[in-house]
Amino acid sequence: MVRRIAFINEKGGTGKTTLTLNLGDYLARQGKKVLLVDMDPQGHIGKSIGIDVQSARYSIFDVLISNRLPPEEAILPTKTDNLKMVISNKLLSDLTINIGRDQDRHTKLKQFIDRLTGFDYILIDSPPSLGLLTVNILLGVEEVMIPVSMTYLALDGCAEMLSSIKLVRKNFDHENIRISKIIPTLYRDNPVAKAVLQRIQSHFGDKCSKTILTFDEKIDQAQSFGQTIFEFAPDSEGAKMFANLGKEVMTL
Ligand SMILES: Nc1ncnc2c1ncn2[C@@H]1O[C@H](COP(=O)(O)OP(=O)(O)OP(=O)(O)O)[C@@H](O)[C@H]1O
Ligand SMILES: [Mg+2]
Repeated sequence: MVRRIAFINEKGGTGKTTLTLNLGDYLARQGKKVLLVDMDPQGHIGKSIGIDVQSARYSIFDVLISNRLPPEEAILPTKTDNLKMVISNKLLSDLTINIGRDQDRHTKLKQFIDRLTGFDYILIDSPPSLGLLTVNILLGVEEVMIPVSMTYLALDGCAEMLSSIKLVRKNFDHENIRISKIIPTLYRDNPVAKAVLQRIQSHFGDKCSKTILTFDEKIDQAQSFGQTIFEFAPDSEGAKMFANLGKEVMTL
């Protein structure tokens, strides 16, 4: 059975893209067949692995506006075997203008994902906002993972996400959707981060991942070289963190 997981938090800069990419790369290196789908007009996943997202022939935008496009046309290989991706770019900001009046505008992504075969994991990166894109993402998956940065305002963003998910479950009859992990990210050794982590852990209990993604500058460096952390620095703390998280996700 394929697992369809969205990494989502409407707050910006909480580590969604870094997590989607490196977790996907880890799972692919364990032999799983993984597809990354970028649903953020910033196109950061492609950019993080050195793909020129503006000049790619097809992006997620083409997939969402036309269900006549064969899925394999939009799926690109990456440097890691078993890791494929659908890129995004600025065109995606115009999605509402293009499909805003379609009856099925909320399920465009689901229709695409439902046509895919042969993947063990489909991981979706999300934009830092709520709207038609986010509704499409939530209706296209069964699992949601929320990366929460260990900063003061993070708790606020997390509460907002929980109510958005509740709303989608109720208004769109999507009973199967569940939050499978809350993942603490960008942790640093300071009093605010410690306090936020404690609150998240006591509130979410087992739903909170055991792995805490701490700040490792190698992660940012890897992206600047267009590489994942497993490619750039396989022995780094960053790589170990993502491997630990990957193990947790695989055994869920
Ligand atoms: N564990 C980490 N250690 C160091 N830097 C990190 C770590 N995780 C993420 N970063 C860096 O923090 C920044 C924000 O991360 P990222 O882009 O993954 O967040 P995001 O939630 O996808 O942002 P957006 O909401 O804009 O899409 C990036 O520059 C990334 O390289
Ligand atoms: Mg991002």
